[in-house]
Amino acid sequence: MVDYLWMWSELVVRWVHVIAGIAWIGSSFYFIALDLSLRPGKELPDEAHGQAWQVHGGGFYNMVKYLVAPAKMPDELTWFKWEAYGTWVSGIALMSLVYYGAASLYMIDLEILDITETQAVMISLVGIVIGWVFYDGMCRSPLSKSDLRLALAGFVFLVLLAYGYGLIFSARGAFMQMGVTIGTMMVANVLMVIIPGQTKVVTALKAGEQPDPRYGARGKQRSLHNNYLTLPVIFVMIGGHYPAVFATDYAWAILALILVIGAVIRHFFNTKHKGLAPPWWTWIVAGLLTGCAIMLSQLGAPNAVYDRTSHASPEALNSASIELVIERCSSCHAREPVWDGLAFAPKGIYLESEGDVLRHTNDIFWQVAASHAMPPGQVIWIEDEERAMLAVWRDMVNHGLVGRNK
Ligand code: HEC
Repeated sequence: MVDYLWMWSELVVRWVHVIAGIAWIGSSFYFIALDLSLRPGKELPDEAHGQAWQVHGGGFYNMVKYLVAPAKMPDELTWFKWEAYGTWVSGIALMSLVYYGAASLYMIDLEILDITETQAVMISLVGIVIGWVFYDGMCRSPLSKSDLRLALAGFVFLVLLAYGYGLIFSARGAFMQMGVTIGTMMVANVLMVIIPGQTKVVTALKAGEQPDPRYGARGKQRSLHNNYLTLPVIFVMIGGHYPAVFATDYAWAILALILVIGAVIRHFFNTKHKGLAPPWWTWIVAGLLTGCAIMLSQLGAPNAVYDRTSHASPEALNSASIELVIERCSSCHAREPVWDGLAFAPKGIYLESEGDVLRHTNDIFWQVAASHAMPPGQVIWIEDEERAMLAVWRDMVNHGLVGRNK
């Protein structure tokens, strides 16, 4: 029963997280596009910045933006903040349930750094806070006079951070740590800058004072940053399920490419929504960089060579491979795992018998031969030569030389 409660709580939190994220990113995309499509109109009041006409759901909308604010505050205002807060709260809950709750499997790699579970969680949490403080400091420094210079500095900071986390956490832990760090920056932009600024404007207006236009400009800068970071942060969240992306030597460089790819794609849409000629070159850049990312994920795979003379025949290689998998994997991937703290086989994958192993040749390839993802955190050692052997074995099984069809 406890197992089921645990599993369901993870599922429900994940459900909430994805829904809150969709609501947040949806409204972020919508408002940036709306902002860029505003056009002046003669009939608008003086304080209006511009308007847009839109059609949706069987009716027409006339959206007018007031900058800094309308002459008279309306009685009712809809605020957009719970989407962001909900995404963060559910995200941290999910991180705690999955990563912090089993830090030795998800965050620590003793070959990289010998830390305890508590240390891993503390470093992760402190790192998230430091990430925000540093980024916020950059936005308030003279760097922020130029959007481009700030973007470049932010890019270098994130790449260094990704590289640095790779020296502390397991590949998987480092990758997700970057996702949480970037996600937290985005939510903190809403919580600490955008909403407080907006609140000050509303308070000033209600008191009949002239609000400071700096709050509007600052809020817009942060919301633009969020807009450029959405695609990369979602890539990290999904990429954490693809071992050839996160568990390779160049995961940090792949992340750097994704930051640029995400930014140029946003640039395409932002320019298009402004009503300017769409910069089609951005897709060529995105395509080329994606090609580089694919190459890096292959280059960063375990790169030993399997010595074909070490097994006399394909059958001998087949037996050796199956034996290896059962020996190194079945303490966790069993109908009744013996690994401390595991109630059932992770992801329902059993690797206890020849039949089990042959059923999962491709999964084994991605987790063990194309990356260092399994065993998690290298808690059980596998030589790179053995990983290379499994790649050759998988090819043979897939070509019907040994295994399933024999
Ligand atoms: C110490 C326990 C442990 C050992 C040993 C272990 N695994 Fe895993 N395995 C896990 C955990 C935990 C997960 C779940 C990861 C996740 O949440 O995505 C997992 C997931 C998997 C998956 C599914 C991945 C997915 O996303 O669908 C495969 C395939 C896998 N392991 C293969 C292996 C192989 C092959 C070995 C041996 C070389 C191995 N594992 C050894 C704990 C272990």
